[in-house]
Amino acid sequence: MAHKMLPVIPAPAIQKRVAELGAEISDFYKDQPLVCVCVLKGAFLFFSDLVRRINLGAGGLEIDFVRLSSYGSATSRSHQAVFTKDLEVDVAGKHVLVVDDIVDTGHSAEFLLHVLEKRGAASLKICAFVDKHERREAGVKVDFAGFPIQKGFIVGYGMDYAEKYRELDAVYELVPE
Ligand code: IMP
Ligand code: MG
Repeated sequence: MAHKMLPVIPAPAIQKRVAELGAEISDFYKDQPLVCVCVLKGAFLFFSDLVRRINLGAGGLEIDFVRLSSYGSATSRSHQAVFTKDLEVDVAGKHVLVVDDIVDTGHSAEFLLHVLEKRGAASLKICAFVDKHERREAGVKVDFAGFPIQKGFIVGYGMDYAEKYRELDAVYELVPE
Protein backbone atom coordinates (compact mmCIF):
# COMPACT_ATOMS: atom_id res chain seq x y z
CA MET A 1 0.00 0.00 0.00
CA ALA A 2 1.24 3.51 -0.82
CA HIS A 3 1.85 5.90 2.05
CA LYS A 4 2.29 9.61 2.50
CA MET A 5 4.89 10.78 5.01
CA LEU A 6 3.81 13.73 7.11
CA PRO A 7 6.56 15.52 9.08
CA VAL A 8 5.84 15.25 12.83
CA ILE A 9 9.06 16.06 14.70
CA PRO A 10 11.86 17.93 12.90
CA ALA A 11 15.50 17.02 13.56
CA PRO A 12 16.40 20.19 15.55
CA ALA A 13 13.43 19.63 17.91
CA ILE A 14 14.60 16.04 18.48
CA GLN A 15 18.13 17.16 19.34
CA LYS A 16 16.86 19.87 21.71
CA ARG A 17 14.60 17.41 23.54
CA VAL A 18 17.31 14.72 23.75
CA ALA A 19 19.67 17.26 25.35
CA GLU A 20 16.95 18.11 27.91
CA LEU A 21 16.39 14.42 28.68
CA GLY A 22 20.12 13.86 29.06
CA ALA A 23 20.30 16.72 31.57
CA GLU A 24 17.28 15.38 33.47
CA ILE A 25 18.77 11.87 33.63
CA SER A 26 22.21 13.21 34.64
CA ASP A 27 20.60 15.18 37.44
CA PHE A 28 18.56 12.20 38.64
CA TYR A 29 21.45 9.70 38.80
CA LYS A 30 24.28 12.14 39.52
CA ASP A 31 27.43 10.56 40.96
CA GLN A 32 25.89 7.06 40.81
CA PRO A 33 26.88 4.31 38.38
CA LEU A 34 24.23 3.54 35.76
CA VAL A 35 23.66 0.84 33.13
CA CYS A 36 21.80 2.16 30.05
CA VAL A 37 20.12 -0.60 28.07
CA CYS A 38 19.27 0.07 24.43
CA VAL A 39 16.28 -1.85 23.07
CA LEU A 40 17.21 -2.73 19.48
CA LYS A 41 16.61 -1.94 16.76
CA GLY A 42 14.28 1.05 17.13
CA ALA A 43 16.16 2.90 19.87
CA PHE A 44 19.60 2.84 18.23
CA LEU A 45 19.74 6.49 17.12
CA PHE A 46 17.96 7.86 20.20
CA PHE A 47 20.28 5.83 22.43
CA SER A 48 23.46 6.99 20.73
CA ASP A 49 22.39 10.65 20.94
CA LEU A 50 21.11 10.31 24.52
CA VAL A 51 24.15 8.64 26.11
CA ARG A 52 26.34 11.43 24.76
CA ARG A 53 24.15 13.89 26.71
CA ILE A 54 24.43 12.02 30.02
CA ASN A 55 27.11 13.10 32.47
CA LEU A 56 27.11 11.30 35.79
CA GLY A 57 30.05 13.05 37.40
CA ALA A 58 31.70 10.61 39.80
CA GLY A 59 29.32 7.83 38.67
CA GLY A 60 30.05 5.91 35.50
CA LEU A 61 27.98 4.80 32.56
CA GLU A 62 27.87 1.28 31.16
CA ILE A 63 25.93 0.53 28.00
CA ASP A 64 24.37 -2.68 26.77
CA PHE A 65 21.91 -3.85 24.12
CA VAL A 66 18.93 -6.17 23.98
CA ARG A 67 16.64 -7.22 21.21
CA LEU A 68 13.18 -8.59 21.87
CA SER A 69 10.81 -10.53 19.74
CA SER A 70 7.18 -10.47 20.78
CA TYR A 71 4.47 -12.85 19.93
CA GLY A 72 0.94 -13.12 21.20
CA SER A 73 -2.44 -14.35 20.23
CA ALA A 74 -5.19 -11.87 19.49
CA THR A 75 -7.80 -14.27 20.85
CA SER A 76 -6.14 -15.15 24.15
CA ARG A 77 -4.74 -11.61 24.59
CA SER A 78 -1.61 -13.27 25.90
CA HIS A 79 1.58 -11.32 25.31
CA GLN A 80 4.88 -13.13 25.32
CA ALA A 81 8.33 -11.84 24.58
CA VAL A 82 11.69 -13.51 24.17
CA PHE A 83 15.22 -12.17 23.87
CA THR A 84 16.73 -12.59 20.46
CA LYS A 85 19.74 -10.84 21.97
CA ASP A 86 20.22 -10.82 25.72
CA LEU A 87 22.22 -8.45 27.93
CA GLU A 88 25.92 -9.10 28.43
CA VAL A 89 26.40 -6.85 31.48
CA ASP A 90 25.52 -8.22 34.93
CA VAL A 91 22.92 -5.80 36.31
CA ALA A 92 22.80 -7.20 39.88
CA GLY A 93 23.00 -4.34 42.37
CA LYS A 94 23.15 -1.68 39.62
CA HIS A 95 20.83 1.14 38.63
CA VAL A 96 19.39 0.37 35.20
CA LEU A 97 17.75 2.68 32.67
CA VAL A 98 15.93 0.96 29.81
CA VAL A 99 15.98 3.11 26.66
CA ASP A 100 13.31 2.33 24.07
CA ASP A 101 11.98 4.05 20.96
CA ILE A 102 8.26 3.83 21.76
CA VAL A 103 6.34 2.48 24.72
CA ASP A 104 2.95 1.69 23.25
CA THR A 105 0.90 -1.10 24.88
CA GLY A 106 3.79 -1.47 27.34
CA HIS A 107 3.99 -5.25 27.09
CA SER A 108 7.58 -5.40 25.87
CA ALA A 109 8.76 -2.91 28.51
CA GLU A 110 6.91 -4.88 31.19
CA PHE A 111 8.65 -8.09 30.14
CA LEU A 112 12.06 -6.41 30.22
CA LEU A 113 11.48 -4.81 33.63
CA HIS A 114 10.34 -8.16 35.03
CA VAL A 115 13.51 -9.92 33.82
CA LEU A 116 15.83 -7.16 35.04
CA GLU A 117 14.13 -7.12 38.42
CA LYS A 118 14.64 -10.89 38.78
CA ARG A 119 18.32 -10.36 37.95
CA GLY A 120 18.61 -8.05 40.94
CA ALA A 121 18.86 -4.54 39.49
CA ALA A 122 19.12 -1.96 42.29
CA SER A 123 16.59 0.28 40.53
CA LEU A 124 14.78 0.25 37.19
CA LYS A 125 13.50 3.15 35.12
CA ILE A 126 12.28 3.56 31.56
CA CYS A 127 13.22 6.27 29.10
CA ALA A 128 11.26 6.29 25.84
CA PHE A 129 11.65 8.64 22.90
CA VAL A 130 7.88 8.46 22.35
CA ASP A 131 5.22 7.73 24.97
CA LYS A 132 1.97 6.53 23.38
CA HIS A 133 0.20 6.26 26.72
CA GLU A 134 -3.34 6.19 25.30
CA ARG A 135 -2.79 2.61 24.14
CA ARG A 136 -1.17 1.40 27.37
CA GLU A 137 -2.35 -2.02 28.53
CA ALA A 138 0.47 -3.10 30.84
CA GLY A 139 1.02 -1.32 34.15
CA VAL A 140 4.27 0.35 33.19
CA LYS A 141 5.06 4.02 33.39
CA VAL A 142 7.59 5.91 31.31
CA ASP A 143 9.86 7.76 33.75
CA PHE A 144 11.67 9.89 31.16
CA ALA A 145 9.59 10.60 28.04
CA GLY A 146 10.76 12.47 24.96
CA PHE A 147 7.49 13.24 23.21
CA PRO A 148 3.91 12.19 24.01
CA ILE A 149 2.06 11.07 20.88
CA GLN A 150 -1.69 10.42 20.82
CA LYS A 151 -2.01 8.13 17.87
CA GLY A 152 -0.73 7.29 14.40
CA PHE A 153 2.11 5.17 13.11
CA ILE A 154 5.44 6.97 13.06
CA VAL A 155 8.77 6.25 11.40
CA GLY A 156 12.26 7.73 11.28
CA TYR A 157 14.94 8.38 13.93
CA GLY A 158 15.35 4.62 14.37
CA MET A 159 11.71 3.63 13.95
CA ASP A 160 10.65 1.54 11.00
CA TYR A 161 7.86 0.34 8.82
CA ALA A 162 8.88 -3.07 7.43
CA GLU A 163 12.55 -2.24 8.25
CA LYS A 164 12.50 0.99 6.24
CA TYR A 165 13.00 4.66 7.27
CA ARG A 166 15.15 3.95 10.37
CA GLU A 167 18.01 6.14 9.07
CA LEU A 168 15.96 9.37 8.84
CA ASP A 169 16.96 12.12 11.28
CA ALA A 170 13.38 13.37 11.74
CA VAL A 171 10.07 11.69 12.61
CA TYR A 172 7.20 11.27 10.16
CA GLU A 173 3.70 9.88 10.40
CA LEU A 174 2.87 7.25 7.81
CA VAL A 175 -0.58 7.88 6.38
CA PRO A 176 -2.16 5.50 3.83
CA GLU A 177 -2.90 7.22 0.53
P1 IMP B 1 4.65 -2.31 23.07
O1 IMP B 1 4.83 -1.18 24.04
O2 IMP B 1 4.97 -3.66 23.67
O3 IMP B 1 3.30 -2.27 22.42
O4 IMP B 1 5.71 -2.22 21.92
C1 IMP B 1 6.21 -1.06 21.50
C2 IMP B 1 7.08 -1.34 20.30
O5 IMP B 1 6.27 -1.47 19.12
C3 IMP B 1 8.01 -0.17 20.07
O6 IMP B 1 9.23 -0.31 20.76
C4 IMP B 1 8.17 -0.19 18.57
O7 IMP B 1 9.22 -1.07 18.22
C5 IMP B 1 6.85 -0.73 18.07
N1 IMP B 1 5.96 0.39 17.70
C6 IMP B 1 4.85 0.81 18.36
N2 IMP B 1 4.30 1.89 17.75
C7 IMP B 1 5.09 2.15 16.67
C8 IMP B 1 5.08 3.17 15.64
O8 IMP B 1 4.22 4.06 15.58
N3 IMP B 1 6.09 3.11 14.73
C9 IMP B 1 7.07 2.17 14.76
N4 IMP B 1 7.13 1.22 15.70
C10 IMP B 1 6.15 1.20 16.65
MG1 MG C 1 10.92 -1.41 20.00
